[in-house]
Amino acid sequence: MGEILDGRALADQLQIKLKEEVEQLPFSPKLVVILVGDDGASEIYVRNKKRAAEKVGIISVVENLPKETSEAELLALINRYNEDPETDGLIVQLPLPAHLNEEKIISAVDPAKDVDGFHPENAGLLLTGKNQLVPSTPLGIMTLLNHYGISVAGKIATVVGRSNIVGKPMAQLLLQNDATVIMTHSKTKNLAEMTKLADILIVAIGRGQFITADYVKEGAVVVDVGMNRNAEGKLVGDVDFKQVEPLASFITPVPKGVGPMTITSLLQQTVKAAKIRRGIS
Ligand code: GUN
Repeated sequence: MGEILDGRALADQLQIKLKEEVEQLPFSPKLVVILVGDDGASEIYVRNKKRAAEKVGIISVVENLPKETSEAELLALINRYNEDPETDGLIVQLPLPAHLNEEKIISAVDPAKDVDGFHPENAGLLLTGKNQLVPSTPLGIMTLLNHYGISVAGKIATVVGRSNIVGKPMAQLLLQNDATVIMTHSKTKNLAEMTKLADILIVAIGRGQFITADYVKEGAVVVDVGMNRNAEGKLVGDVDFKQVEPLASFITPVPKGVGPMTITSLLQQTVKAAKIRRGIS
């Protein structure tokens, strides 16, 4: 039986600590979230970020732009917040509507305010082990593993999914912490052979209940980044929890696993960015 990695409980604990830290600051950090269009899932994520930010004393502004917004209009808004001395964190919710070039938009955010850690400069710093601001989901996962006393050093960690947001930065953080990393993706042959080697299995592929018992070694630590709706409209992860939980030593649930940790990391990084920008250590 796998012990539950309770992201919700740890996130609540860390957010209380962060609130105390924010109260000691001589200013209120400010996080700006830009949302383009009306993607239902994105709207929920953004609302959750705003609510959590306000709970810890971070000023939160959501800029909700229509889906027809032009690249020039979006770049102008980003630029306005880049120049705003009160803004510490600036993120653009992904995915963007198809006519907007994601790479160009992400690159326009001031790297010092890029609390998502998506800017090529921050991605490069992560690659070379000089982390400044790093993507929230992988950071939250490392915090969660650490809290439960799970060391990745010397272990085989298999990452399923190679997105810039989760898979790639996750692999870098695992490497930095001395794991032996196996990167897998949609073109991987014999995926189950790779996942069955894993002492730590991180799954971020966006396919509901894809990872069944056949993919998991007995005693593995299983981290599920997925958020999918099944045929009945129920929220499910990328892991078939019912099948895999009895095999795992530790496992994250969906919901209340990785999701709350992602938001907590975003808030932590907003406070970190604010302190660096404003010269407080
Ligand atoms: N879309 C899915 N995850 C994320 C995230 O962590 N940040 C942003 N900006 N968009 C996302």
